[in-house]
Amino acid sequence: GAPVEVDISKMEPGQLIRVEWRGNPVWMVRRTQEILDALPQHDNQLRDPDSKEPQQPEYAQNAYRSIKPEVFVAVGLCTHLGCSPTYLPNTFGEQVQGVSAGFFCPCHGSKFDMAGRVFQGVPAPLNLVIPPYYYVNDTTILVG
Ligand code: FES
Repeated sequence: GAPVEVDISKMEPGQLIRVEWRGNPVWMVRRTQEILDALPQHDNQLRDPDSKEPQQPEYAQNAYRSIKPEVFVAVGLCTHLGCSPTYLPNTFGEQVQGVSAGFFCPCHGSKFDMAGRVFQGVPAPLNLVIPPYYYVNDTTILVG
């Protein structure tokens, strides 16, 4: 599949946009400082909070799992059986399915935080997959 160029200049805080890459959905989420500050809150409930699993790009092996903290890029498919999880953006402060904000897979109940890190005790075995991407310039991401 061809690389996909995405203009992120108009993304609103908290917004998720979907693009298609190699027939799969890829998400980009504009994370606010509030979202970033909240990331460590669930660390002790996550299966792999430090993303030590090897099957991801080097630039995703950090606390944010992204090149730039404010833009999260991930393949939008559950690592269990490939359903597309639901984005729960507007739940700061309150909890939905035990998650303050993140992604909930309706198929078998897997939960991921705002860095796509999987919670313990759900069927999905791995954090959401981070695709290959890079910044062409400050407002353009190339996936692929
Ligand atoms: Fe997501 Fe099974 S496919 S929990």
